[in-house]
Formats: sequence, structure tokens, C-alpha cells
Amino acid sequence: MVQHPDETGAGSEEFRSAMRHFAGNVSVITVGTPGNRSGLVATSAVSLSVDPPLIIVCINRDSSSWPLFARFGHFAVNALTASHQEIADRFAGRGGHRGEARFELGQWLQGQTGAPLLDDAAVALDCRLEECIDRATHSILIGRVMQVRVREEDAGGLVYWRGTYRPLLSENTG
Ligand SMILES: Cc1cc2nc3c(=O)[nH]c(=O)nc-3n(C[C@H](O)[C@H](O)[C@H](O)COP(=O)(O)O)c2cc1C
Repeated sequence: MVQHPDETGAGSEEFRSAMRHFAGNVSVITVGTPGNRSGLVATSAVSLSVDPPLIIVCINRDSSSWPLFARFGHFAVNALTASHQEIADRFAGRGGHRGEARFELGQWLQGQTGAPLLDDAAVALDCRLEECIDRATHSILIGRVMQVRVREEDAGGLVYWRGTYRPLLSENTG
């Protein structure tokens, strides 16, 4: 074990490689309205509280989607299923697609807030942006969940672990 008695803490490469061992639920965070939408893949979405229903997600302010979050004051968290790896790649920026072009794959609806919801997501959470806390390169977005949309058929899940997408299937996965 490497110990770091100084105040700067662990090195960034050491931390990055440590985080590879955390399995993360893969979501697409979306923002905007048709004609002016964007989004990104994220593993940082987790619930903050149940009552009230709050969720947080950490967004890199250098990402191409960033300017839209403050402008629209909403976002959606779309939890992906086992068959959504292509959509995950697109929203991670692979292939160079940006903005609206990221929505060419999949069927997209609009939630109550106007944010884009993936029709066949495992679950889609439509959120009003309540607060934004800047820390280092990222901002922590706190969203109030306004609408929950759950897929009826079990299509499994998608996690990211040790640098690779891993489909999660259950005995009920169709
Ligand atoms: C598995 C995975 C998880 C990610 N999680 C986050 C995240 O939580 N927050 C974030 O800002 N970017 C995250 N990213 C990076 C973004 O999805 C994306 O690569 C980046 O925002 C693309 O930048 P662009 O929109 O400028 O092309 C993740 C990427 C991958 C592949």
C-alpha cells in the first residue's frame, strides 16, 4: 500500500486507476429540447435523498454539453440496459458526434421539464436543476426528480467496471 503523508493526497493517476475497481451504473445524462439537445455518458449519478427526491451527478465543465445545463435548468438521467452500448459510446463522444447528432440512435421523448428521455431506458428520471456546486474541474448538479419512467420489460442493466462496459442480465431479462 502506498501512503501519502503530504497534504496534496494521492496522485491523479493512482486515483484514476483505483476508481477502475468501482463498478458504475451507466447512465446518459441529457439536456435541452429538440433542435438544441446534448448529453453525455456518466457513472456519477447517485441518489442524494429520497424525501425530497434528489439526485446528484458530477459533470465536467469542459464537456460540450456543459453550457446547456444552466441554460435549460433541467436534465434527465437515463439508466442504460444491456443492449445500449452503442448509445453509451455515442454519448461518450466516440466517433466525434456532438449535440443533436448524439440522439440519432434510440427513440427519445420529452419529459415534463422538456429534458430528453430515452424511451427504452431501464429507468428515466426527469429532473429540475435545483443547485450547481463547482468543485475543481467538475460541477455537482443537484436535481429534483419530477417524473420517474420505468421500463416494464426487464432488459438488464449496464455497468462500467475496469475500463469496460459489462452487461448485467438477470433470470428475468427478456
Ligand atoms: C463509463 C464512462 C463514465 C463517465 N462518467 C462521467 C461523469 O460521471 N461525468 C462526466 O462529466 N463525464 C463522464 N464521462 C465522460 C463523458 O461521457 C464524455 O466522454 C465527455 O463528456 C465527452 O465530452 P464531449 O461532450 O466534450 O465530447 C464518462 C465516460 C465514460 C466512458
